[in-house]
Amino acid sequence: MSDKATWRAVDELFEQKLVGDDSALAAALSESAKAGLPPIAVSATQGKQLYLTALSIGAKRILEVGTLGGCSTIWMARALSADGELVSLEIDAKHADVARANIAPANIARAKPVATVDVITGRAIETLPSLKGPFDLAFIDADKESNADYFAHALRLSRKGSVIIVDNVVRGGAVADPNGNSQVQAVWRLLDMIDKETRVSATAIQTVGAKGYDGFLTAVVL
Ligand code: SAH
Ligand code: DHB
Ligand code: MG
Repeated sequence: MSDKATWRAVDELFEQKLVGDDSALAAALSESAKAGLPPIAVSATQGKQLYLTALSIGAKRILEVGTLGGCSTIWMARALSADGELVSLEIDAKHADVARANIAPANIARAKPVATVDVITGRAIETLPSLKGPFDLAFIDADKESNADYFAHALRLSRKGSVIIVDNVVRGGAVADPNGNSQVQAVWRLLDMIDKETRVSATAIQTVGAKGYDGFLTAVVL
């Protein structure tokens, strides 16, 4: 009872009972697949966790690094009121186009005024310096090698109480290997940075589910 099929079955149960049918997300996922994007978006339960985090802190401005087809973007944008704003950074012009095309109908389906969602095409490390804070929530989910740099920018663009979430910090447990690959080394750099950083309090939780064995790191700005 602890194999990948079980993790998926439990996720399916939680998705059915706690998330429910979600035609906007289903459409975004199928359009992303049709366009050939990799199937690495947040799962439904993870997306809803991001939404609930944004909702619980009353987020008005959200920053995302790594848009892909806009699934996590759509989840987080749903927590914003009409005067809210979400900025999502994506290096791949095709991913950005697919995301914009997914976000527009997801907004219309809500049948009420929705927040502004801007997908900015370009290398995040080049876009980030031009952004103005504060953002209440940042979700970092792009090239893992740059996580520490993205975290530093998210912190610069934060205020007291802002939440910063980093995806994929466990990678099937590979993170425990001090001689791991470049992505593992990058998680270590991020952990070392946070270890020395007195302005945040952070934790990370290992998770299993439809996307396998991985985890989010969560930091709150003090
Ligand atoms: N957050 C999305 C998944 C993102 S996948 C979701 O859960 O739905 C990672 C994305 O980061 C990919 O679309 C990839 O093109 C993008 N990316 C990779 N390197 C990047 C960079 N240097 N700057 C901005 N985006 C980048
Ligand atoms: C993978 C998963 C992710 O959430 C991501 O952002 C990048 C890659 C993966 O499973 O390969
Ligand atoms: Mg991810």
